[in-house]
Amino acid sequence: MFNPAQFSPAIQQRRRGMPLTHDQRHPARAAPRIFADSANIRDIEPLYRAGIINGVTTNPTLVKKAGANSWQQAKEMLTEILILLAPNPVSLELTALTPEAMLAQAQELAALGSNAVIKVPVGGYRTVDTNADPLTGLKVIRELWQQRIHTNATLVFNTTQAFWAANAGASCVSPFLGRVADYLAKHDDELGSPGNSLYQTGREARFHNTEYVACGGSRQDSGSRLVQEIVTVFAHYDIRTEVLAASIRNPAQLTEMLLAGADILTVPAAILAGVADHPLTDLGMQAFCADAEVFSR
Ligand code: E4P
Repeated sequence: MFNPAQFSPAIQQRRRGMPLTHDQRHPARAAPRIFADSANIRDIEPLYRAGIINGVTTNPTLVKKAGANSWQQAKEMLTEILILLAPNPVSLELTALTPEAMLAQAQELAALGSNAVIKVPVGGYRTVDTNADPLTGLKVIRELWQQRIHTNATLVFNTTQAFWAANAGASCVSPFLGRVADYLAKHDDELGSPGNSLYQTGREARFHNTEYVACGGSRQDSGSRLVQEIVTVFAHYDIRTEVLAASIRNPAQLTEMLLAGADILTVPAAILAGVADHPLTDLGMQAFCADAEVFSR
């Protein structure tokens, strides 16, 4: 867990350089932006109309889950979200896998709306095609930056990936903190916790727990510390690429992201629905409502 005192002057300074989230008069004008992590317009629309979110992130899994069964249906679904959210950003993920096909698909998606942000997997290309160029994602981000198309580098699991994506020109990077936490909850063995395997780069070391964070080795909060680490590096070097905390699972992780200095938090609709709740709030409401009955006489 973080110590709020760790919120360094460099991070504060970096946040001050970021675009305002709300109108100048709004008390939380400089707060991190909140996005819905969904492709379901029925979830997104009420949250947007209520001013709870000001952006959306989607991915192929979410688009399929929302009911799209073809590329055409996916584009129609995404266009509807782009129109609703405009001019706020909506991340649309590439599904093509070669640089040429990815760039063509990026053009196609960017043409759906001027608020489209093209989501590019930062790596992993060799898991689909062993002959693929491992730098495919970075090269596509670079080319799209040259074309002035905004990108979101996705599937980020360590600070190196985040730095290289920023260096390629990504508008934002998406560390998946919840998946790190899931992985550690499933695989970490406290007693036999491995040492820091950061410097093992062989394929067999790919899933060593401590690959995720350089600072402090593997712990249950490694996902949150990963975001803190990326924000710290970006602040130190004045990198303006936004840090979009993704794969958030619960209110504790949401708070950790606020303490980490994330620029954007993307949150599933089901988690957003519970952010105003707490068991003691429920008890307090029940007591107040019971006592307030006297005033309805
Ligand atoms: C981010 O943009 C992704 O869509 C998302 O946060 C992934 O989250 P998951 O781990 O819940 O699938």
